[in-house]
Amino acid sequence: MSRVIGALYRLLYDGVLCRLPEPTAVALGQTALRLLPWDRLAVFRLDDPRLAVTLGGVRLPNPLILAAMYYDPRIIMRAMGLGFGAVTTKSITVEPRPGHPQPNLARVRTAAGPGLVNCNGFQNPGLERFRADLAHLPHRVPLIVSVAGESVGDYVTLVKALGPAADLVEFNISSPNTRLVYEWSRKPRELVALLRAVRAATDKPLVVKLSPDFADANEAEIIPAALEAGIRIVNYGNTRRVEDRRLSQGSGGLSTRPTRRTGCSARAQPPSATSPDSSRAARFWRARSSSSSAPTAKRAPTE
Ligand SMILES: Cc1cc2nc3c(=O)[nH]c(=O)nc-3n(C[C@H](O)[C@H](O)[C@H](O)COP(=O)(O)O)c2cc1C
Repeated sequence: MSRVIGALYRLLYDGVLCRLPEPTAVALGQTALRLLPWDRLAVFRLDDPRLAVTLGGVRLPNPLILAAMYYDPRIIMRAMGLGFGAVTTKSITVEPRPGHPQPNLARVRTAAGPGLVNCNGFQNPGLERFRADLAHLPHRVPLIVSVAGESVGDYVTLVKALGPAADLVEFNISSPNTRLVYEWSRKPRELVALLRAVRAATDKPLVVKLSPDFADANEAEIIPAALEAGIRIVNYGNTRRVEDRRLSQGSGGLSTRPTRRTGCSARAQPPSATSPDSSRAARFWRARSSSSSAPTAKRAPTE
């Protein structure tokens, strides 16, 4: 059945959505997600117990996680009923952000297949409004709340405030569209303070979201420092920074199928690999990084 749904979606995408201007296609897809009760259709259920996994001690009905993109609670709620094992929210910032002006999304064709370049710039309602939106959201599957900041203080504030509403917390230090967020990977020493402060700010399982643009620093410094700080889960799946003159910022983050290994290997040893938790975490990121075709999450079918 999931093959049939996939084929139907492909038809819709190739026949209609990809012929519309990007903002129209996105608006159409998001409106359809908000208004139509797709999540009540039994065809989207994925309840086979053999697919269940645990992530940071949290049980997921399957390992397919919707990546960070949406903040509208109605879309998040629908996505939870579409067969994902967990749903990640858009990265939330302390203050509301309008995002970068349009054009901020462009389709591309890459050797690996179709893709998107975005310079969304963290359009989101900000911490207070989002916290209120989450208060009544049922967790049909685990909710991963994503946060992004430009200072250690921002991350600590966000994680403390939103952690209680989340099953896991992801902190994004890698989106290429906001200079100070992307810069974290260029300053691994300062990053150590951030990793420790975020770890101390919540007892929820933490995911650090990295950029494949900084493979060497990730492998040599950032992942070992994350493990050392007690952060056990790495999402290596953020977009790659590319130039694109069609976008208002002249550049953006490329989402597409990976074309090569993301750059991690088993060479870097986590510093405290002797503890059982550390060795489990080390195995996890090694296993993930040795797969050449495993994006961490998939988009919902909005565009
Ligand atoms: C329009 C758009 C907005 C995104 N917003 C975020 C975000 O707020 N935070 C984040 O960590 N990643 C964000 N991403 C990146 C995705 O979560 C994901 O990491 C990326 O698309 C690569 O995964 P994929 O190739 O499986 O789609 C965004 C991507 C797109 C296309």
